[in-house]
Amino acid sequence: MASGRIEVAAIVGSLRQHSLNRSLLQTAMLVAPERLHIYELSIDRLPFFNEDLERQGDPPLVAEFKAALDRADAVLIITPEYSYSIPGVLKNALDWASRPVGRSVLRHMPLGMMGASVGRSGTMRAQLHLRQICVQLGAVPLPEPEVYVTFAADKFNALGELTDPTALDLTKQLLTRLGEWADMLNARRPPPR
Ligand SMILES: Cc1cc2nc3c(=O)[nH]c(=O)nc-3n(C[C@H](O)[C@H](O)[C@H](O)COP(=O)(O)O)c2cc1C
Repeated sequence: MASGRIEVAAIVGSLRQHSLNRSLLQTAMLVAPERLHIYELSIDRLPFFNEDLERQGDPPLVAEFKAALDRADAVLIITPEYSYSIPGVLKNALDWASRPVGRSVLRHMPLGMMGASVGRSGTMRAQLHLRQICVQLGAVPLPEPEVYVTFAADKFNALGELTDPTALDLTKQLLTRLGEWADMLNARRPPPR
């Protein structure tokens, strides 16, 4: 099923300037089906989640972040694995998105995930944790393909382009499936609040 344009808000779980995961996002932007418009939402200036802060109303950057998520048709998370899980900065952003309780902005949101790590796990454990977190967020993760870019330091060239044919092919497959996933879920999704 190929229908209209899909706005895909992407979040990268690394703040590093030469992040392999941001290179993976740049590759995704280049190889995505034409109808997917992928753009990054930055999370680096979001304050640490704190219920005291939240009680005073969402800080402006948080409100902007949540509004941008709300406008998206799908979300793509591209993240490294830190200590067998997702990085704290990403968890912080998702904690803000999950609030207020029962009104997560990611509820019913089609969500794709990928990751690159320098080791052999290729972020497999981080992605499993992310799937678990999606339960509380109410986001609906695409089941497959799973994209784990293993030994990632060797799989990008000097321009930051993904050169591994298998990882590249899986990335293309995931993006095509994410478009179909968004078509299917958004047809059933309740109208915006
Ligand atoms: C705090 C920290 C924890 C890490 N833990 C893991 C890990 O559990 N598994 C893994 O495969 N790589 C781990 N790494 C290595 C990352 O895969 C590597 O730093 C990767 O390049 C980070 O992604 P980035 O290039 O997008 O910043 C860790 C790195 C850091 C800084």
